[in-house]
Amino acid sequence: MIKKVIILCGGTGSRMFPVTKAVNKQLLPVYDKPMFYYPLSLMMLCGVKEFVFIINKNQEINFKNALGNTKDLGIKVDFIIQEKPKGLPEAFIITEELIKSKSIAMILGDNFFFGNMLTPIIKNSFKIKRGCNIYLYPSNNTSAYGVVEFDKKNKVKRIVEKPKKSKSNLIITGLYLFDEKVSDYAKKLKPSKRKELEIVDLINIYKRKNMLNIIKLGRGSAWMDVGNFSDLHSVSNFIENIEHRQSYKIGCIEEIALNNGWINKRKIKNRIKFNKNANYSNYLKSLIR
Ligand code: DAU
Repeated sequence: MIKKVIILCGGTGSRMFPVTKAVNKQLLPVYDKPMFYYPLSLMMLCGVKEFVFIINKNQEINFKNALGNTKDLGIKVDFIIQEKPKGLPEAFIITEELIKSKSIAMILGDNFFFGNMLTPIIKNSFKIKRGCNIYLYPSNNTSAYGVVEFDKKNKVKRIVEKPKKSKSNLIITGLYLFDEKVSDYAKKLKPSKRKELEIVDLINIYKRKNMLNIIKLGRGSAWMDVGNFSDLHSVSNFIENIEHRQSYKIGCIEEIALNNGWINKRKIKNRIKFNKNANYSNYLKSLIR
């Protein structure tokens, strides 16, 4: 069972300049919470309590402030600085000491997943002992993502990053699970034409060893990533619409910790002490009333 998850919160955020000049993209608000709360909350729903945040230089204080006291959430967070955005697989090189030869999952800090059946599907897939899991989603914009190519027997042939043309509409989302060999394989990768280590190259190593599992996220689930301002608005609108209609919050990390039995109501009180007037605080108050 996966115990630790890397949340990738580095990168230049160049498509969102000038807003990202001062602050990492994953700290920007998506409707009523920082962006990274959504991938973090999904992993907490899956029972994960230990996290490694990969962040840019000078951003640790901002992430710490946005998280608050992690003891009040019942989780443990380590921070690792990525000096330069050299690509997603670099995460497994710079966290090698923390991974300690165990299976590990990674989720991108700008990815948003939503859906009724997602948690049980992902939780079940976290039981993996060997190999690599990727999570697929249909998209009509395949040139923006890693795409799965299938052979004539409908078996995975390989994964291609941002192909100009593609034969399938199944893209890989920003959630990955790898076995304990991942850091060794990541160290063998060479930078691509765009001078980055590519996650698809790492996944293709597992494919060639016949150790790649694909998990298709059904059409009843939602997946979006925040690459630009238009995405930011789309995801924010989606969350606002659902929260407004249901009066439940999506990605409320305190609520998940409470429901998981990791914290008591007193810890929630600690979280709202200084922000009494926020709508978010009122929601937390309603949980402990
Ligand atoms: O969102 C899913 C897609 O994510 C996958 O389909 C692609 O295969 C995968 O390469 C990735 O594509 P993107 O173009 O979205 O990757 P991007 O460079 O935007 O980085 C994704 C996140 O990871 C972003 O929040 C920034 C962070 N990042 C990125 C790099 C390159 C880092 O923290 N460090 C890095 O070195």
